[in-house]
Amino acid sequence: MVKMMMGRLAIAAAIALVAASACASAEKSYSFERDGTSSVSYTGQTARLNMADELYDGMKSNESTVDMLLQQFNNGTGFADPALDESGKNIAGKVASGCAREKNAAAKEKLEDNIKDFANNVIPAWNTPAADGTPGVLSDSKRTVNVNAKGWEMVQIFQKSLIGAFTLDQIVNNYIEPCKLDDDGRKEENDAGTMMKDKGFTRMEHAWDEAFGYLYGQEEDDTADLSTPSGVGTTLNKYLKKVSSGDVAPGISEEVFDAFVAGRKAIVDKDYEARDAAAKTIKIDLSKVIGAMVVNYLQEWIENKDENPADAVHALSEGYGFIFSLPYTNDGEGKPYFTQDEVDAILTKMDNFWTLQESDAQAVIDQVNERFGFSAAKEKEEVKAEEEAPSSDDG
Ligand SMILES: *[C@@H]1O[C@H](CO)[C@@H](O)[C@H](O)[C@H]1NC(C)=O
Ligand SMILES: *[C@@H]1O[C@H](CO)[C@@H](O)[C@H](O)[C@H]1NC(C)=O
Repeated sequence: MVKMMMGRLAIAAAIALVAASACASAEKSYSFERDGTSSVSYTGQTARLNMADELYDGMKSNESTVDMLLQQFNNGTGFADPALDESGKNIAGKVASGCAREKNAAAKEKLEDNIKDFANNVIPAWNTPAADGTPGVLSDSKRTVNVNAKGWEMVQIFQKSLIGAFTLDQIVNNYIEPCKLDDDGRKEENDAGTMMKDKGFTRMEHAWDEAFGYLYGQEEDDTADLSTPSGVGTTLNKYLKKVSSGDVAPGISEEVFDAFVAGRKAIVDKDYEARDAAAKTIKIDLSKVIGAMVVNYLQEWIENKDENPADAVHALSEGYGFIFSLPYTNDGEGKPYFTQDEVDAILTKMDNFWTLQESDAQAVIDQVNERFGFSAAKEKEEVKAEEEAPSSDDG
């Protein structure tokens, strides 16, 4: 009798376990189907992320030409991967153009200027020693960088600017905003279950998937548990992974992934409150990636500038690009953590890397920590102070 009961309990426990794990795996996968076919689609996003990766290589190579780089950026052709040329997509048209904000044409021009400066000034000076006012090469024991007349490593400025002005903006100020989810009859279509022409998904579902694609569109298996993304590619995925494993905003990659899954499910369920709550989490957490990287790279510059000037300039260039990205952040209420005017003032102050003052970089770090509510840096200082003066009650 006892034996039989134990057997039953074991079976019941096993069933419960299977049910629980099936449930857990269903929650931890961005997998949505209609009539047995996946209803998730974002090929255009993957193409543009792959274009960004090729541009990154091009912005490092002294074999690049200005015409080729501008054609890749503006026209979306001239890539080594023929599938990209045939995609009909391009990056430039999506820069600083999220539907929830006013389009910023100046941002695209600045990115074009980066390309021109690299091809026209940095490449011809590839083996010339760099100095204040002179483009050229800068080396230390850790790294060799090719910089413009102001000491900028163009590839880093360009790529980190794209992370905010292109990928982040497209997600948090475009595809998960009501202007792309609801407007133009999209909400009514989702309510009525009206599919896009010849597709198995609604326009609202598709918009959410396009946001997903700008973050996870290069993952090998997009139905896997992406709580910790692979870090694939040169844009936002890579830095979400990095920030989530650091001490400024730990664990955000799991929150972001869970929110993408929950929001997509909410759209299927026509639960727009739940959808918007998920969108808010995504906006805040992905914005933190930008802020955290500004702090990280400016600190790296301060720590390295005397001993390893080339490595320090590399970090400062990344920091500059992430600062350029700050106006595209979204605090969950539609506002950026830093306005364009504030960022323009910061970038003007740090324009010449050769003469930048440590106190100016430190002021930006402090301001970003405060605006985003980052406490890790402050806590570290406090721990250090405690270690220097141990009190009797610390265990
Ligand atoms: C621009 O791209 C289109 C396809 O999107 C292509 O037909 C055209 O040849 C390209 N133009 C240049 C100058 O590369
Ligand atoms: C191009 O770059 C390579 C690798 O950095 C270097 O060895 C070569 O000298 C450069 N060529 C020119 C023409 O600058």
